[in-house]
Order: sequence, then C-alpha cells, then structure tokens
Amino acid sequence: MDDNIKQDNRAIFATKFGAIATTVGSAVGLGNIWRFPYEAGVHGGGAFLVCYMAFVFAIGVPVLCAEFCMGRGTRSNIFGAYRKLLPGSFWHLAGYIGIIASLLILSFYSVVAGWTIEYCVTSLFGQLDFSDKETGHMQFMAMTTGWRPILWTIIFLLCNFFILLGGVTKGIERASNVLMPLLFILLVAFCINSFTMPGFKEGISFLFHPDFSKITPSVLLGAMGQAFFSLSLGLGCMMTYASYFSDKSRLGKTAVTTALLDSVVAVLAGIIIFPAVFSFGISPEAGPTLVFEVLPFIFNQLPGGEIWSTLFFLLLFLASLTSTVSMSEISITYFCEEKKMSRKKALTVSSAIALIGGLLCALSFGPLSDVTVFGMTFFNLFDYASSNVFLPVGGMICSIFTGWVIDRKFLKDQLTDRGTFRFPMLSLLVFCLRWICPAAIFLILLNSTGLL
Ligand code: TRP
Repeated sequence: MDDNIKQDNRAIFATKFGAIATTVGSAVGLGNIWRFPYEAGVHGGGAFLVCYMAFVFAIGVPVLCAEFCMGRGTRSNIFGAYRKLLPGSFWHLAGYIGIIASLLILSFYSVVAGWTIEYCVTSLFGQLDFSDKETGHMQFMAMTTGWRPILWTIIFLLCNFFILLGGVTKGIERASNVLMPLLFILLVAFCINSFTMPGFKEGISFLFHPDFSKITPSVLLGAMGQAFFSLSLGLGCMMTYASYFSDKSRLGKTAVTTALLDSVVAVLAGIIIFPAVFSFGISPEAGPTLVFEVLPFIFNQLPGGEIWSTLFFLLLFLASLTSTVSMSEISITYFCEEKKMSRKKALTVSSAIALIGGLLCALSFGPLSDVTVFGMTFFNLFDYASSNVFLPVGGMICSIFTGWVIDRKFLKDQLTDRGTFRFPMLSLLVFCLRWICPAAIFLILLNSTGLL
C-alpha cells in the first residue's frame, strides 16, 4: 500500500474524495435499489417515503456523525472504540450486536447479490425473456427457487473474499471512485426512460403522494429500519470506515453528503421501479422479489435491452460488493484486533459463517420455503431482525453513549479537527443524540411490539 499514508499502523484513505466515495460505496447498494422499493411498496409508497426521509435526517445523520467521531477519534473497531473512550465499562458489548447483525445481513445480502449475478449472466447470453407477465414470473421463479441460487451465493461470497484479501484502500477505494459515478449515471438514464411508461403518473403518485392515514406502527418501524440499513448504521460499520479517514476529513460534511447521495439513489430507484410496476400490472406489495420481477420488463422495452440489462446488473453486483466489503470489515477487524487472528484467517472465519447463513437464505425461496421461525423464512427473519431490531438498538446505544456518556469536547474536537474549522450545529447534534434519537428509536421499537 505504497500510495497510502500509514498512521498508527492502520491504513488511511489516500484522498478526501476517496473517503467519501468509499463511505457512499458502503451506503449505496442493494439497500437502495432492491430493499427501498420493496419496503416502500409493502408500506404504502408516499407515506413510507416521508417517514423514511424524516428518519434519515433526524436520526440517521446524527448517528452517522456519532459513529464517524467514535471511529476516527479512536482509530479502532467498534469494541475498541467503546473501550478506549470509557475503559472498564460494559458499553463495548454493543459490538456483539454489530458482529451478529453484520453476519446476518451478509447472509441474505449475498443471496440477493447472487440473483444479480444470475441476471447479469443470463442477459449477457441473451436468455432473459420478459416479454409478458407470465413468462417473466416463471423465469424469475425458475432462477430463484431451486438449488441454483446456492451456486451464485457462493460465487458472490468468493468475490467478496478475494476483494477483502487485497486490503482496504487499494481495491475498494479505487473501485468505488469509478463505479459509483457510473451507476449513478445509469440510474438517471433509466429514470428519464420512466417518463415514457404508460404507468408513469400512477407510479409517481404512489411514491410521492403520501396518504398519512397509512402511517401505522409497522410503516414507522419499516422506515426506521430502512434508514439504518441504507446508511449502514448501527453496527459500527461506518465507525470502522471512519477509523480509516484522515484527520483532515470533515466528518459533518461527509455525513450529510453520504445521507443526501444515498437518499437520492433510493428515490431514483423508486422513480424507475414504480411507473414500471403500474405499467405492467404487478402488485407493489410483492416484497423482496419485486425489483427482480419488474426490472427485466423495463429492459425488454428498450432498444438493445440486453446490453442495458447486462450493464445494470453488473453495476448493481459491484455496488453490492462495495457494501458487503464494508459489512465484512466489522467482523474481520474484530477477529484481527480483538482475537489476534491474521487477516486471512479472520476473513475465512467470517466468510464461512456467512456462507452457512447464506445457504439457509438461498434455499428460503425453494426447498426451505416451508421452514419458518416466528412465522418467517430464514431470509425474511434475517432481514427483519437485523434491520428492524439490531440496527436501531445498535444506533440507540451509540447515540446514548455519545450524547450522555462521553465528554462533549470529544465530539467537538472530532467535528472541528480540534478547532481548525467551525461546526456550528454542535448543539443541535448533541440535542438529537441525547433526546431525539434514543427516544424515537425506543418508542418505535416499543410501539411495534404492541406494548405501546
Ligand atoms: N447500506 C448498504 C446498502 O444499502 C448495506 C450495508 C452495508 C449495511 N454495510 C452495512 C447495512 C452495515 C447495515 C450495516 O445496501
């Protein structure tokens, strides 16, 4: 890693742009393009979007700032960060939530990323046929319900493994710098294409006209979980990434930029998906399979559809990789720095656990579709438990810790680079971390259990 500055023996991102691109690379992924439209579809469209945006800015940005400060200020993983800031306390146990949830997410995420590889390869060979609804559905079922997803899940986890083997800055940083802008351009192009769809008006009105009567506890919980998931929050993922930031990065600005870009990508995905959903008569409430059933229809309509389709799924696959690489870092840094394993061994252990979870999730649409826990398949359970429980709880602990427990001066020093520049929103940030975030998360979690 000759082109990177070393500090405390840890790698540092080479450029400021690289630090932002990598953070955005972690945030932008299947969460925006696959999970956001399916959650919005299930939870009533506009009402969900409003709640989601409110959570991104009222809870997401403050917790993101808090994670950035903890990560860069201590230059350690989530365990080390809590421990260095308050030695001898039990706060670092929050790290276990991070490890467990990141491995759960990695499991189901790899399955969906596996679908994107399958779609990419099938369209490359001109075999993706979505000429009508029935053929489209049959084809999707054939691809995802048998044993074949296992193969793609394994291939995806192997890709993840080899990228991580290459070290932090070299592979990921360079790839993100090029891929993220490219994906963005492609999304804008598809978005413009949406205007020509017969269901454009209906789709846009579904997404942008909130019907506030549709806001229920489950919509609030779903929107909050989505905000955490999409911003990679609550598990110390952004904390670990911030530990690679240089001292000069402006944490507040990076947090706001990340949240803005991430939401824009989610909204673009919505503008692409919903007009097509209504044009082709698919139910917006289809759930996790929604995007994969709808997107090929869009590509089928375009001249040179297969090329678009191949390119899109290729970029989506790469965007997923930049996200899984970030979630794998949580357990890898833990095994390396806390359990003193070599990076390779740590990586092998994490990948093996994710592989077992991934197999359970991959089969959840086929052979294991009847096996349920709490009424959910493994896939749905891992998705629901991590996003709607673990991430918000992890975020709540982080906000209470940074808001109440540690000295406010620590946040100030981090956010202003020890007074080098101003951060006028400090009081607002501390207010959010002390009151808004913990209270909102607690009430929503309680509310959704039916206790409130
Ligand atoms: N934010 C990513 C996405 O939207 C997923 C992700 C990456 C994540 N790292 C994470 C989610 C850590 C939760 C925690 O696709």
